[in-house]
Amino acid sequence: VEEGTKITIPYPCDFHHHFRQGPAISSTVPVASERFGTALAMPNTKPPITTVPLALKYHEELMAARGGGDMDIVNVLYLTDNTKVETVDEMAKHDFIVGFKYYPAGATTNSDAGVTDFRKCYDVFKRVEELGMVLCIHSEVSDADIDIFDREKVFIDRVIKVIVSDFPNLKIVMEHISTSFGVDFINSLPPTSRVVGSITPHHIMYNRNALLVGGVKPHFYCLPILKRESHRVSLLSAATSRSGRFIMGTDSAPHTVESKESACGCAGVFNGHCAVEMYVEAFEGAGRMDALEDFVEAGKKFYGIEDGGRKMELVKETWEVPGTMEFGENKVKPLRAGEKMLWKIVR
Ligand code: NCD
Ligand code: DOR
Ligand code: ZN
Ligand code: ZN
Repeated sequence: VEEGTKITIPYPCDFHHHFRQGPAISSTVPVASERFGTALAMPNTKPPITTVPLALKYHEELMAARGGGDMDIVNVLYLTDNTKVETVDEMAKHDFIVGFKYYPAGATTNSDAGVTDFRKCYDVFKRVEELGMVLCIHSEVSDADIDIFDREKVFIDRVIKVIVSDFPNLKIVMEHISTSFGVDFINSLPPTSRVVGSITPHHIMYNRNALLVGGVKPHFYCLPILKRESHRVSLLSAATSRSGRFIMGTDSAPHTVESKESACGCAGVFNGHCAVEMYVEAFEGAGRMDALEDFVEAGKKFYGIEDGGRKMELVKETWEVPGTMEFGENKVKPLRAGEKMLWKIVR
């Protein structure tokens, strides 16, 4: 569409955001608060948020870091092999705690305390299902003998299919799906299924060439790793499908410039400063601006977020992303650093 065109969309919510901890949150929270009504804070901090008291403290710190912003923040607890059923009951007493994040042990940043065998969590899954809470899943195996590009597919076959069949009413988010296998699995489920997939802006805008062609580009390294173009196309068609089964989750995951530009660089893309704008750009590129509303609303409906029909206006107007941004006492290199964004939020 032409420069200057305005669009109105339901106010976006981000159902997957890494705010980090300590001084970093004074940078990450205000940036997110400029574009999300509600954000779901990931619990893979050091130490991880494994108990209700830790979640209470983290929630308070994040809310306080908003400054003048009015974003609401919800939390999930970090699931471990030892999480107790009583913890689920305790969680249910707090509206801001919406469920668990299940990291397979070793799959990603700070996942060492994660789940080693999902069958150890069956009592917890049962209680989460009964209480209508949510199980967010980093859907990748971490086995050394599985190729990094196959980790999502193998996790679907070995784990997700089993959990979905054993807990047909469990609300599950397959987080940051990255392949057509994830898309096809979710689409294959019956209408009664309560399984959705979150989709990041980077997985619908880039394929693995962005990471690997012309030299290694560490700022495009994230988990799940970017896949080949056919998977990106499949994810973009899922996001724009208006099925209600695919939701907004940015996986904004800042690391310091030094920890990314390293011989062993951390996984994570920081997109908190431009994620909504990127989704709009991707939907426009697909000729599917009509599907933005459903994509934004699907996540709110799944999580039961009521915002009284609040809207966001965007204008087709270019702006340049800075080369680096503040990240507590450090710097982060933002996605699209030094490049032009095509859509701007009207304030
Ligand atoms: C760090 C922080 O909070 O400053 N957090 C983290 O890694 N979880 C930043 C960083 O080193 O990435
Ligand atoms: O790329 C990623 N970074 N993927 C994750 O699952 C975690 C995240 C992080 O915390 O850095
Ligand atoms: Zn993850
Ligand atoms: Zn994440």
